[in-house]
Amino acid sequence: MSKHGNVILVGPMGAGKSTIGRQLAQALSYEFVDSDHEIEARTGADIPWIFDVEGEEGFRRREETVIDELTQRDGIVLATGGGAITREANRRAISARGIVVYLKTSIEQQLARTAKDRKRPLLQHAEPRKVLTELMKTREPLYLEVADHVVDTDASNIKDVALTISDLV
Ligand code: S3P
Repeated sequence: MSKHGNVILVGPMGAGKSTIGRQLAQALSYEFVDSDHEIEARTGADIPWIFDVEGEEGFRRREETVIDELTQRDGIVLATGGGAITREANRRAISARGIVVYLKTSIEQQLARTAKDRKRPLLQHAEPRKVLTELMKTREPLYLEVADHVVDTDASNIKDVALTISDLV
């Protein structure tokens, strides 16, 4: 590996970052870390609570701290939250400290994978399709900016995607 021995997964909500990340970590014998879980563990509260009480800005501050710390480790597969790349400091840390894989996913798949989930405050909206489409417009250039590889998660199952990535990194 050319950069830090980390693999960092970026992409929208419902891209499968956590599921694929777990499989990939197993395949590489790396530790799997999920920045959202780390934020919740450190705060002692879940993400909807953090958004309610501290607003998105409070959540982003916590996310920046966690990503800065986690990316300084070595030998991890890191799943980042879908909005992590909106902060420049995160983009810098992510692209400098790991092989970055953008999990490219259609809006249809994102909707299907997030449909029953109430843990994503940004999707507690009458029209989640509209939200995901708008977020994609502003965020996709940023996913592409940090990505070393782009992998489509629509076409194949999780195991195959994890195998594809383990061959790339
Ligand atoms: C967010 C994505 C979520 C979580 C938070 C905000 C976003 O992570 O960080 O709800 O801004 O897209 P996942 O991408 O793991 O769902």
